[in-house]
Amino acid sequence: MRPTTALVAGVLASGASAENYLGFNSGATLADRSAKFKSDWLAEFKTAQGLKNAPGKFNAVRLYTNIQAYSQDDPIEAFDAAIETSTKILLGIWTSGTDSIDKELSALTKAIEKYGSKFTDLVIGMSIGSEDLYRVSETGIINKAGVGAGPDVLVKFINQYKKTVADTGLKNVPIGHVDTWDAWTNGTNKAVLDAVDWVGVDEYPYYENGKGNDIKNSGTLFDRAFNAVSGAVGDKPIWVTETGWPATGKNWDQAVPSVENAKYYWQEIGCRKLFNKVPTFWYNLRDSNPDNEMKFAITDNLSTTPLFDLTCPTKFDTPTSTAATGVSSSTGVSSPASSATGTTGTTTGSGSDSGSGSGSGSGSQAASSPTPSGSGAYVGKSLSAAAVVSLALVAGVFALF
Ligand SMILES: *[C@@H]1O[C@H](CO)[C@@H](O)[C@H](O)[C@H]1NC(C)=O
Ligand SMILES: *[C@@H]1O[C@H](CO)[C@@H](O)[C@H](O)[C@H]1NC(C)=O
Repeated sequence: MRPTTALVAGVLASGASAENYLGFNSGATLADRSAKFKSDWLAEFKTAQGLKNAPGKFNAVRLYTNIQAYSQDDPIEAFDAAIETSTKILLGIWTSGTDSIDKELSALTKAIEKYGSKFTDLVIGMSIGSEDLYRVSETGIINKAGVGAGPDVLVKFINQYKKTVADTGLKNVPIGHVDTWDAWTNGTNKAVLDAVDWVGVDEYPYYENGKGNDIKNSGTLFDRAFNAVSGAVGDKPIWVTETGWPATGKNWDQAVPSVENAKYYWQEIGCRKLFNKVPTFWYNLRDSNPDNEMKFAITDNLSTTPLFDLTCPTKFDTPTSTAATGVSSSTGVSSPASSATGTTGTTTGSGSDSGSGSGSGSGSQAASSPTPSGSGAYVGKSLSAAAVVSLALVAGVFALF
């Protein structure tokens, strides 16, 4: 007999059997917006597992949708490639700008019928939604972040998903939701926290302008936001679902994209804080959004020799955190990253790839890298007056503390 979801969650929470997955995020489309097919994912998964000097085996992937790009509800071909390479899968369902996740669930059901346990045994988690709460937050609204979804909508979808998989091989897979840190510290969203087994957090110190986001301070900024979430979510395990530093692109306040800084970030955040300690999905193995000026890929054309040496050092610069939750929650504002993220929502909402404006359209768009893509759009255009005001507000709030 397999344990119940509650028991699985309990075990994970105790840390006894939690596995600290190592993986990358993977969108449904390539940089030219064409669909990824099985061969594209095969190439990604093989590179991820073969990375030179990696501090562990990167044999997990986070997907944003179950739907093959530009199809109605065909299962995404990443599943096929994952089965062939024994890649563990963190599933995702896109939940913003739609009142139905029927197509997502239909694609998932088809995959379960088609592949059976070869597929379901690889699934390590399901995220219902991605940054939806951020987009309906005060900052998200000021920043015109695009269409989001509130806690009640997310809980409704979580329950619908649970019913759908209740008699399948996915019934014991732990359920999470991915959002920015301040969504998890916001008490109004407690129903979502209560409904999930684990908490997914996207963190980009790079985008935290107004807070001293020099690369040398990235570890401290990361820790503050992480500790704030940690203080807010109690025993629920935290998975870092997106984090990274761009190798090329525009400066963002004090943050400078460079290969050298991407390497420093890998060491100070990845090696010091995350790898083999927290389930981690790095952003990213390859870029897939042409709108994003910032390039986060750690490889060129999926070479197994990355842009920088992945070897983890034994000494770090970041001061050991005292994990004072109160301090953390007042300073860990990730709104700049969030506002960037929010812009993605607009893209997502347009569902330009399917024209349906929901379900597969959103999912596929979402798949082309939510946070940085939004950020790219955000930087590429000039800051809107509202965005500038909100950034000033963030800086102001920060100054208060
Ligand atoms: C807290 O969450 C609720 C519901 O998601 C949202 O409406 C509200 O704006 C959030 N508060 C802040 C300060 O963003
Ligand atoms: C990567 O691919 C692009 C596009 O095909 C090509 O222009 C570039 O030279 C390649 N880079 C390397 C290092 O092979």
